[in-house]
Amino acid sequence: MTNASRITHHGILYGVGVGPGDPELLTLKAVRALKAADVIAIPKSKEESDSIAISIVKGIVDLSNKETVELIFPMTKDKEILRRARGDAAAAIADRLKAGKNVACITLGDPMFYSTFSYLVPLVREKLPKAEIEIIPGISSVMASAAAAVIPLAEADERLAVIPATYETEKLRNVLNDFDTIVLMKVNKIFDKVLSLLSESGLKNRAVFVERCGGDKERVVRNLESLRGERLDYLSMVIVKK
Ligand SMILES: C[S@@+](CC[C@H](N)C(=O)[O-])C[C@H]1O[C@@H](n2cnc3c(N)ncnc32)[C@H](O)[C@@H]1O
Repeated sequence: MTNASRITHHGILYGVGVGPGDPELLTLKAVRALKAADVIAIPKSKEESDSIAISIVKGIVDLSNKETVELIFPMTKDKEILRRARGDAAAAIADRLKAGKNVACITLGDPMFYSTFSYLVPLVREKLPKAEIEIIPGISSVMASAAAAVIPLAEADERLAVIPATYETEKLRNVLNDFDTIVLMKVNKIFDKVLSLLSESGLKNRAVFVERCGGDKERVVRNLESLRGERLDYLSMVIVKK
């Protein structure tokens, strides 16, 4: 037990990255924290029937003697709905920490990289200023997708950009021009627009699409044109390497 938890008697909040989908990409540290936790907090969108993050953990950690708490984050840009959902999630975590329980909040990939968990940190601190928070980094989908596609993300003095593909067209065009390697996250809903931009920039044949990296449904597609019009998974990205 650390000094902080001895003084406050509060539990510790762990933000645990569980990697992109393959349980073998869980770190030893993540497994240790998950096994020791009293509560596993599982962020989910309303639409998701099963959390992918928990499916990664299930075969490795016995959950039968733990409390599991689902934190629902609707997939919306409505600020009020998001504010309420994040507030409820932070309260659910803070209540358990106050009761002296250690809470492990699992996150796909890495918790500090485009993750809902990072929004919860200040909210939990607001409710419990002395809360002890420890982040256990995970293998991000960017690293795992580059590995699946066997694409070096950066070599020597190359510059790498990682951006949501949902950027405005002009900004996307500039990033495609300015960087050596470009990773386009959240590409599924606007894939056809991205395809047109890549064609226009002469980069279509330099791009690879990676979907559900690390899981049973992993796909690495080099002929991007073959995906035009297809309904693509949210867990997908395009890596462009000039
Ligand atoms: C909210 S971000 C989460 C990123 C996560 N924290 C990480 O470190 O990988 C969601 C985006 O990450 C990417 N992503 C997450 N998991 C993925 C996977 N298994 N395969 C491909 N892309 C993935 C997709 O671009 C998706 O739209």
